[in-house]
Amino acid sequence: MAATPQSRILGTGHYLPDVIRSNFDLEKMVDTTDAWIVERTGIRERRIAPEGMVTSDMATAAAKRALEAAELQASDLDMILVGTVTPDMPMPATAVYVQQKLGAGHCPAMDLSAACAGFIFGLSIADQFVKTGAMKNVLVVGVELLSRVVNWEDRGTCVLFGDGAGAVILGPAGGATARGRARGVLSTRIHTDGALARSLMIPGGGSETPTNADVVEKRLHKVHMRGQDIFKVAVKNLYSASKDALEETGVSASEVDWVCPHQANLRIIDNVVSRLGVPEEKVLLNIEKVGNTSSASIPILLDDNVRSGKIKAGDHVLMCALGAGVSWGGALVTI
Ligand code: ACO
Repeated sequence: MAATPQSRILGTGHYLPDVIRSNFDLEKMVDTTDAWIVERTGIRERRIAPEGMVTSDMATAAAKRALEAAELQASDLDMILVGTVTPDMPMPATAVYVQQKLGAGHCPAMDLSAACAGFIFGLSIADQFVKTGAMKNVLVVGVELLSRVVNWEDRGTCVLFGDGAGAVILGPAGGATARGRARGVLSTRIHTDGALARSLMIPGGGSETPTNADVVEKRLHKVHMRGQDIFKVAVKNLYSASKDALEETGVSASEVDWVCPHQANLRIIDNVVSRLGVPEEKVLLNIEKVGNTSSASIPILLDDNVRSGKIKAGDHVLMCALGAGVSWGGALVTI
């Protein structure tokens, strides 16, 4: 018997820039091949935000779609949480600009820095506020403009990332059922292991190494990653977070309708899903088309499949993500 949810996803939305950068485009920029990228990651192309577009523009576009789907106005929002590691600027929070661009009221608006796990962290925090009755409608956005912080001369990282935004509105679960199931957030599990902090980072530009000409020269203001360290911990922790999210709710792997995993690497996803015992036809994927959009990854994939009708009301959707920190989490939601 699944736990009774207290909050529910009222609407979803996403935004992807129009510009496509394919693996063949990257072959002209760094020493790589389409074959290498596809075999090692599953990525064929990614979206790139045009000059002049900022993170909050993409977040606002996704949020507008989620509000529309939820049949709510921006003025109905009680809180705005934006998961991002690529903010418009270090201060103030990108969420502040999202509030302004949406025309929302004076609700609290803040950013969450949990990299690829940013959306699950946001969902978990929003769930706590809605559960207690402190907030009614909370906007959770995952958004990244990674193309601006990627070193386009580093083939080890630049082939992986893309830009985009995804959003959900979380509100009270109250009474709505589908297929005999109460709709809502059944569980969220979030974790961080700071011992691996330096495996994935943008080392320059903060208080440790403030920006100067040398930092820029050495590209310390760009993404640095020890890919294999992250790969190993991702396989291990995404499995355990997903298993925990299921165990806590009493929902078995065979009752999961869809797995909506962070899209970082197809090999990581395959490994985790096969250990969970969920058949591959239940695994949602868009990595081929969008690459790793970090915190935006899960809400983009979720919205795409809700809008296409693949995910239906009452479906159990298992989510899991891991990124810089390392921070990771799992969530089980009945849509
Ligand atoms: N094209 C061609 N060759 C490449 C490329 C490339 N784009 N990138 C690396 N190589 C080379 C390496 O130089 C190396 O060559 P060598 O053997 O001569 O030294 C070889 O390919 C193997 O490199 P590895 O790093 O061992 O390759 P691996 O199979 O581990 O794949 C990858 C690398 C795809 C990065 C993988 O480790 C991975 O996906 N890691 C996890 C990434 C992730 O999940 N990030 C988390 C979230 S991101 C966030 O939080 C913002």
